Amino acid sequence: MKMIAAVDSRWGLGKSGELLTSIPDDMRFFREKTRDRVLVMGRKTLESFPNGKPLPGRLNIVISRAKELRIPGVIVCRSIDELLELIADFSSDDVMVIGGAAVYHQLLPYCDAAFITKMQFDGNADVFLDDLDELGSWSAAEESEIFDYEGLKYSFVEYKNSDLRAIGFSGLSSHMADYFRLKKAVEFELIDFGGHSDDCEKAYRSELLALLEAFFRPLGNGFSGADVESFLTEREALADSLENYLRRAKLIASAEDVAALGEKYDPGKELTRKTVLLDKETYPPFARKISE
Ligand SMILES: NC(=O)c1ccc[n+]([C@@H]2O[C@H](COP(=O)([O-])OP(=O)(O)OC[C@H]3O[C@@H](n4cnc5c(N)ncnc54)[C@H](OP(=O)(O)O)[C@@H]3O)[C@@H](O)[C@H]2O)c1
Repeated sequence: MKMIAAVDSRWGLGKSGELLTSIPDDMRFFREKTRDRVLVMGRKTLESFPNGKPLPGRLNIVISRAKELRIPGVIVCRSIDELLELIADFSSDDVMVIGGAAVYHQLLPYCDAAFITKMQFDGNADVFLDDLDELGSWSAAEESEIFDYEGLKYSFVEYKNSDLRAIGFSGLSSHMADYFRLKKAVEFELIDFGGHSDDCEKAYRSELLALLEAFFRPLGNGFSGADVESFLTEREALADSLENYLRRAKLIASAEDVAALGEKYDPGKELTRKTVLLDKETYPPFARKISE
């Protein structure tokens, strides 16, 4: 796992719950490094985003001790231990710690690299990152030239950690971030039961609708600490991934899930099938029609 942060000349991170400043080039760098990734952040950092909303196109995991906290589009973990167990489902390179101070400090030993934007000014910060130049295990591996934004000098430095504390990433859920954004289209074969088995057709259609609903709905209702806890308990028994846990709960569905439903109801492909392609515009009228 890696971390990304922008610091001032005293390794200051923020002030009064906000960033010290914002450099467009650095924002671009942040977007590039975090796109499609699993982001780990503290509750206060999430609150510092526009409208307190998670970042789109990424899987947002927030740490908070608040037991009942549920945030749309966010997975909430209630402790570092719970978080470490959860992220072990992903690949190390997919996970990025994005702050703030409290979370960086606790997760630093588990990060193999840190992308630090070093800004040459004193922003009078009230929260700080550990000084990586002072920590024996961290050293600068790559350093950019010095850039200038309206008189503010800054550079990008990549640090490496030579004393990494292992998490044991399994890479079981590397595509989880996909479920947090709107999916575009799905193609499958619709079975026509030809009026032979009304009960079967009813069951098939209701299962198909549930899958389509889960497919087209981004995982936006959050996933509370309690849910994460029950997943972790269940995983121990089943040796399963977060992705499969959510699929069983019909909170998410992949295109493969929708396509595979036909096999369950007509394994020998004996019934007539019609290829259907749905997108978010054509899905609602289709759903109305087949639930009639
Ligand atoms: N410069 C940068 O690159 C950068 C990046 C990110 C953030 N920031 C800045 O950093 C500041 C926020 O940092 P911060 O340190 O105040 O807050 P933070 O790390 O974003 O969030 C702290 C919160 O996380 C939860 N938390 C932390 N450790 C936990 C644990 N072990 N178990 C369960 N929950 C835990 C707690 O939430 P509850 O209180 O809900 O329990 C805690 O109050 C802001 O000014 C922000 O703008 C700067």
